[in-house]
Amino acid sequence: MGGAFDPVAEYEARTRKSAAWFEEARKHLPGGVTGNVKFYAPYPVYAKRAQGGHLWDLDGNEYVDYMLCFGPLILGHGHPRVMKAIHDQLARDGTPIFGAPHELEARMMERVKRIFPFADAGRFTNSGLEATLHALRIARGFTRKPKIAKFEGHYHGSYDEVLVSLTPPVASAGPASAPIAVSQSISTPTEALGQVLVLPYNDLENTTKLLRAQRKDLAAVIVEPVQRGFIPGDPEFLKGLREATEDLGLVLVYDEIMSGFRMKGPGGAVTGSGVEPDMICLGKIVGGGFPIGMFLGRRDLVGVVDPVTRPKDDRVFHGGTFNGHPTVLAAGMATLDALEEPGTYARLNALSDTLRDGLNDLFGRLGVGGMAVGPYSTFNILFADRAPRNYRESLRADSKRRQAFDLGLLARGVHLHPDKPLYTCTAHTRADVDATLRAAEDILRKMAA
Ligand SMILES: Cc1ncc(COP(=O)(O)O)c(C=O)c1O
Repeated sequence: MGGAFDPVAEYEARTRKSAAWFEEARKHLPGGVTGNVKFYAPYPVYAKRAQGGHLWDLDGNEYVDYMLCFGPLILGHGHPRVMKAIHDQLARDGTPIFGAPHELEARMMERVKRIFPFADAGRFTNSGLEATLHALRIARGFTRKPKIAKFEGHYHGSYDEVLVSLTPPVASAGPASAPIAVSQSISTPTEALGQVLVLPYNDLENTTKLLRAQRKDLAAVIVEPVQRGFIPGDPEFLKGLREATEDLGLVLVYDEIMSGFRMKGPGGAVTGSGVEPDMICLGKIVGGGFPIGMFLGRRDLVGVVDPVTRPKDDRVFHGGTFNGHPTVLAAGMATLDALEEPGTYARLNALSDTLRDGLNDLFGRLGVGGMAVGPYSTFNILFADRAPRNYRESLRADSKRRQAFDLGLLARGVHLHPDKPLYTCTAHTRADVDATLRAAEDILRKMAA
């Protein structure tokens, strides 16, 4: 890398107020943030204001925003339709939340079921984490078996049984064909770790073998059909996983909290794939920028929470004070309205292709080994020579180069979360993409020098 290129110094020179606020925030919040993922070195950009596809920081710098709150803001910040729906709900209902059940809950579920027609019923939660947690509890209650299986490198939220083998050091993660469950947090009880079988993604043969060996104790398999938004499951792998779980009597849960509503159209990776999971978890986009999660699936499965048909001693408990929050659902409805306008996805995905192709063209032309990989409106940037098919292959990418590239982008008015996927939104313009590609070109030329 060229000695003259110092992205940390560039970043620090532009973000002095963020640096100062980081020190203030650290007095009150460990790491100056409210979730570990929100921190990055040397300190994060602290936001002040946002509009459409753009965000402004404490120093007044303007950015094209590809972080978009880790995905939910597919219409950009403050979309007029969403803002109006929020104000209308508050004015109409006279309160942010009733506590009592209300019409929008079933209306929204009915609408999402139309998009995911294999599902009969579901419930809302306040986050994606809760959606997967409840889906797995339901699977346990339904099957009366204790264990769950998840794939190495897949994220389903920050609780003990799934915060396992997310980014394990390969040295302690066992063989690729039969990964060992590695905790991601020193708080994980050994018993929780013992309840999890870790599977190799995109490896049907070994996945089936491992599932077969533990079928007696397993309730469910949970999978991101597009790992971390950028590694799609092979169609044959996902079909085979469906067949194997059906054969073995295991509940198959699709976690489309990230990929949901970010594929070809309104729907998810499941749409048009020929696979019908037993349950699906959604979140992020369906809340229109507010906290949300939802799980839905076959009636016999999600029906195990039903207080009408199931006696108390034969029921899975599901609760949550804020579940089905009217303001959240109003924002989510308005988001679906906008997404279902004809041409919305075609335009969004075409612009995403322009950005991804433009980056790949730069990587090729400037001789920096890197690539933008991922489907539709989510993708990641890897300094690698091949697109990975699973977590271990993704480790081949050069993380130091990625770090330099990310800070370089931040210093040039492109907001993303370092080392994480990028998301596009309907508010991004061709001018935004062109500005991003100019910034990327400047950095890659310096990196190649
Ligand atoms: C695939 C997936 N599942 C679950 C979650 C957890 O969602 P939340 O952060 O809303 O709890 C995330 C969050 O990024 C996710 O990407």
